[in-house]
Amino acid sequence: MSRADLPGPDTHPLIGNTLQFHHRNTLTWFENFPNTYGDIAQITVAGNQIVLLMNPDDIQTVLIGDNDKYQKSGFHKVMTSSLIGNGLVLSEGDRWRSNRRDLEPAFHPEKMATYANRIVTHTDDKLDQWKAGDILTLDEEMKELTLNIITDVLFDVDPRSEDWDLPSIFSDIIEYFSYIAQTYLYIPEWIPISRNWSYRHAIERLDDIVDELITRQKNQPDNYDSLITDLVNNGWEQSEIRDEVVTLLLAGHETTALMLAYTVHLLGKNPVIRDQVISTADKTDIENPAKSLRQSTLLDRVLKESLRLYPPAYAIFRQPTEDVMLNGYEISEGTILCLSQWVTHRDHRLYDSPYEFRPNRWKADSLTPPPTGLYFPFAAGPRRCIGERLALIEGKIVLGKLLQNFTPESFAEDPLEVIPSLSTQPKDPIKIKLHPRN
Ligand code: HEM
Repeated sequence: MSRADLPGPDTHPLIGNTLQFHHRNTLTWFENFPNTYGDIAQITVAGNQIVLLMNPDDIQTVLIGDNDKYQKSGFHKVMTSSLIGNGLVLSEGDRWRSNRRDLEPAFHPEKMATYANRIVTHTDDKLDQWKAGDILTLDEEMKELTLNIITDVLFDVDPRSEDWDLPSIFSDIIEYFSYIAQTYLYIPEWIPISRNWSYRHAIERLDDIVDELITRQKNQPDNYDSLITDLVNNGWEQSEIRDEVVTLLLAGHETTALMLAYTVHLLGKNPVIRDQVISTADKTDIENPAKSLRQSTLLDRVLKESLRLYPPAYAIFRQPTEDVMLNGYEISEGTILCLSQWVTHRDHRLYDSPYEFRPNRWKADSLTPPPTGLYFPFAAGPRRCIGERLALIEGKIVLGKLLQNFTPESFAEDPLEVIPSLSTQPKDPIKIKLHPRN
């Protein structure tokens, strides 16, 4: 079917919906699409046709049923390739399959008990830096903590003893993508404007650190129990390892930190639920992760509900590699498809009172995933997030320990205003006051 047949906002003949896109928070704009247009809608931004899929069956088809007919969006590859190269998030086909196979052992359930002990240590260290009465910028605190954790558990290096400034490097990177995600204005990196320069500089600083890390571990493999030495043993080239290390550092800390910051904010704004979760945390043996992680508790439901209401990954982009039928429409090869967790998780047609934070909506069986297409914070199908298990374990430990020590109060606006970047970012810092536990 032709473009005009798809529902969607009115378009300008020359610039499509570009101006509408620039003048709004895309997330809140898209959020109303299911009510206005139903299951499918189309916009044109900066010459790109984007089709938003809002029917859970179509989302499931793209991610699982017919996943072999779709690949990652070319526009997003162009934008991120100098940062994450051919790492797991962007690679396709045989290369992706073989790399995923080599990385999977690092995320095996058996590894999680070891990781959990290290997560406990890093969390205790962070808690020692805080005291009752402190007002924290929680998103920043959590990013530092999750960055320390991911570097330690996957690469056997403790960044606290290194002369690195990873948080500031990643902050420059996120700022660059926030601008593009909000404007869809991509100015090729080689064009010498200050935004591009500071992004390139951030990548160079990151590359220096990662290259040094790989070289060090290549030279002394016996001193490390690290994914890097595993990849060296599997015959990986330095540049391939570099792409994967950068991918895992980025994907492995940013989203997890956001999940934690959003969750603590939600609890801070919902004191009745917060106090119930505190009492659950008190009864949970967080120091014994192997046991506590198997138990499904209110802590799990809280994380699950937080990932619904404020999904750190707000959209997945795919392009069909052939013409396909979706929702009764013929979609041409190469069309950019947007499957948005933000939109779907807040769809009134799918969720009762979707804007309410109600962890007990998941009570029936909090560890059984709901149907894909309705709830997909970690995507689904073969390209499902490799770090899901690790992220949820981190979430449970860090949240549980924080609540065992402090009662959080959130000073941030509620609902939180979040903006799109590589992930959702809070528009303003999430300020949390730590009260003493009675
Ligand atoms: C709350 C935390 C997290 C969320 C919400 C999240 C979300 C996602 C989503 C939605 C995807 C699919 C992207 C797509 O197909 O376009 C993804 C993929 C991925 N994630 Fe995560 N993620 C989280 C934590 C982690 C962690 C802790 C790691 C690693 C340590 C990680 C590493 C990856 C990688 C490597 C991929 C690409 C997988 C592939 O294509 O084979 N993520 N994640």
